[in-house]
Amino acid sequence: MAVPVADVEMPEVGLDADGSEDERRAALTDLATRTWIARTPLGYVITRHADVTAMLRDKRWFSAIGLIAQMQGVDDAEWNRRSGQNILGMEGDEHQRLRRLVGPAFTPKAAERLRPFMAEVINDLLDPLCARGHGDFVTEVCEPYPIPIICELLGAPRDDWELFSRLATDIFRVFNGNLARDLHTIMNAQDEMGAYMSKLIAERRAEPRDDLLSDLIAAEEAGDRLSTEEMQSLANAVLLAGTDTTRNQLACAVELFARCPDQLRLLRDEPSLAPLAAEEVMRHFGAIRGTARYASETLTYRDIEFPASTLIFPSFTAANHDETQFDQPMRFDITRRSSAPHMTFGSGIHYCLGAFLARAELQEALKAVANRMPDLRLDGDVEWKPVSNGIWGPSTLPIRFTPGH
Ligand code: HEM
Repeated sequence: MAVPVADVEMPEVGLDADGSEDERRAALTDLATRTWIARTPLGYVITRHADVTAMLRDKRWFSAIGLIAQMQGVDDAEWNRRSGQNILGMEGDEHQRLRRLVGPAFTPKAAERLRPFMAEVINDLLDPLCARGHGDFVTEVCEPYPIPIICELLGAPRDDWELFSRLATDIFRVFNGNLARDLHTIMNAQDEMGAYMSKLIAERRAEPRDDLLSDLIAAEEAGDRLSTEEMQSLANAVLLAGTDTTRNQLACAVELFARCPDQLRLLRDEPSLAPLAAEEVMRHFGAIRGTARYASETLTYRDIEFPASTLIFPSFTAANHDETQFDQPMRFDITRRSSAPHMTFGSGIHYCLGAFLARAELQEALKAVANRMPDLRLDGDVEWKPVSNGIWGPSTLPIRFTPGH
């Protein structure tokens, strides 16, 4: 007979622990050795790789992204309608249909065709920094890096990079914790993006090219096709999901390499390690530390009954350091080959749609950094975003190295 979760004895933890990331990571892994589940003021944190994977794969747990407005006391019919069209918040048949239609446009091959462009963008951004030998890596490199790539992916021309950057900043206000204030700014940016995309879609319908939009227009399964509105929503989701994630993941990676010169040297000497290095960075220092789900109905897992609406927080950081899956999990080792996947791209039906693209972006950037900043080191205190941010990393990253490479 299942025991109601409220009656189960388990440790209680705060939502956001104090201290450095190393301390937080150590506290989480210690918690994981003691329990697979712990109580927080809002719901339950899930700590172990096997349970995080199983619960994310269980379709009865729904994405909590649609609850952001409700949790902030915002009830706006138009906002709710738009949220319902966001792939990140969709569930069931609706979500499955969309993934089936868009999946073929997000293959490794699609990411590969952008690789030379990624290398060009990152090296152009590194040029002034490498001539100087010091600067803030976040403002000069991480912030601008993903926008040209998303534009290229969607087929938007170079002249519109500025526009995308501005729209992205406004659309990201969704994560600022003040939706009541920002709602209209966000929806205006979404409208502007929608109008822009519908023009671009019309152009691609008339004259297809070798880009994501043309692939999406051509996407068809058993006579089913994406509507213009669905493609607009997807472009919004890609901008939302593919920009700040990449920025923060790259910043976390460079901070980590600046503290681990032996690993940086290894990557410089052997650039073919870049794919393993990108995976290891995401495992050990993921910019997305976890996600949230709610029980769509009363359900039972491991003989515990979770009433409908119960919130859970699968912790990627804890799962990524689960010693039953990763040998010496606290060691950052870019030669690590593990049979268990890291959790930083999630798991189950919402597994990151842009994973191949994100990997390629990270690999190209890390190769360039290792090659052009051989003695990279930190140059002062790193400032970090609040740990409550869903997408997390340094807000400034002062670095120094020998210039001229
Ligand atoms: C290092 C960079 C990235 C990380 C760490 C990351 C991580 C994630 C995670 C954890 C999820 C699942 C969230 C959940 O289950 O609650 C997700 C979903 C998603 N990601 Fe990424 N992502 C990255 C880059 C990208 C890029 C570059 C794109 C697009 C070009 C992208 C597009 C998406 C989309 C559309 C979804 C929603 C998929 C769905 O709900 O079916 N991501 N990502």
